[in-house]
Amino acid sequence: MFLSVVATLPLACLVAGSTYHRTDNIVGSGFLSAFSFQAISDPTHGRVNYVNAQTAASQNLTFASANSFVVRADSKTVLNPSGAGRNSVRLQSNKQFTTAVMIFDVKHMPQGCGTWPALWTVGADWPNQGEVDILEGVNDQGTNQATLHTNAGCTMPASRTQTGTSVLNNCDVAATQNSGCGVKVNDARSYGPTFNNNGGGWYAVERTNAFIKVWFWPRNGGVPSDISSGSTSVNTDNWGTPVANFPSTTCPISSKFGPHNIIINRGDWAGAVYSSSGCPSSCVDYVNNNPSAFTNAYFEFNSLRIFQ
Ligand SMILES: *[C@@H]1O[C@H](CO)[C@@H](O)[C@H](O)[C@H]1NC(C)=O
Repeated sequence: MFLSVVATLPLACLVAGSTYHRTDNIVGSGFLSAFSFQAISDPTHGRVNYVNAQTAASQNLTFASANSFVVRADSKTVLNPSGAGRNSVRLQSNKQFTTAVMIFDVKHMPQGCGTWPALWTVGADWPNQGEVDILEGVNDQGTNQATLHTNAGCTMPASRTQTGTSVLNNCDVAATQNSGCGVKVNDARSYGPTFNNNGGGWYAVERTNAFIKVWFWPRNGGVPSDISSGSTSVNTDNWGTPVANFPSTTCPISSKFGPHNIIINRGDWAGAVYSSSGCPSSCVDYVNNNPSAFTNAYFEFNSLRIFQ
């Protein structure tokens, strides 16, 4: 009797581990209450000036309708070379999350030379509470890369079950010149103009103490039905092989990753690789003198749904 009760517990735990219930359904103006504006000079030294909520609204850098939320960079002003960078927006979630599933339904991501769009989560005291980059790329180059950044003592196995290609397997920023352990998504539709021309798609991340996984589905490319139907619960066991899989085998996830805020921004990575990516003149000159080049430098979200 006693033994049989004990024996059923691990099974119950396994089922609960992959079914999650929706806790946050962020749509339209919901983004403005779920996130705060970080009006800070760009910590990564890009040619960007992050503005507050009031300035963003008055310059239409944020725009909410019933079923969409747009966040953009200024595309009207020629900049003074000795003045501030181009106005843009950096949003930080008011809530923090540890183990959770997040699904970003993205209709459009910032594209063009000089843009560095990013969706990521980060804890306090970087890199000690870790960073998870879900969507990140630069100057329209290639495909998306999903990356973990940690302090020393977190590495990834060379071989693991994922559809993407590992770039580096040491997540320690000190050992990798801040690069961390990245996985490139092998699907051109995951990023930049190709992503946008295809109507965007979904990025999802699942964080448990045993792994962090990232999935990507293009708009018309086999997204699981619990996601496309907007279900209030999801089962990640049915989502297939992730594009990036970061197991805890040689990375104690529960101690390397603390409570995280979600960050949405576009921001010196673009500068660092600018000249090698076929963009005109220098990055700073280009950003200063070509406001209209930023017409497509916007994120449009259908929703952000969080499950725990
Ligand atoms: C503000 O931006 C939205 C989204 O791009 C656009 O539909 C709207 O026309 C813009 N409003 C103004 C006044 O430019």
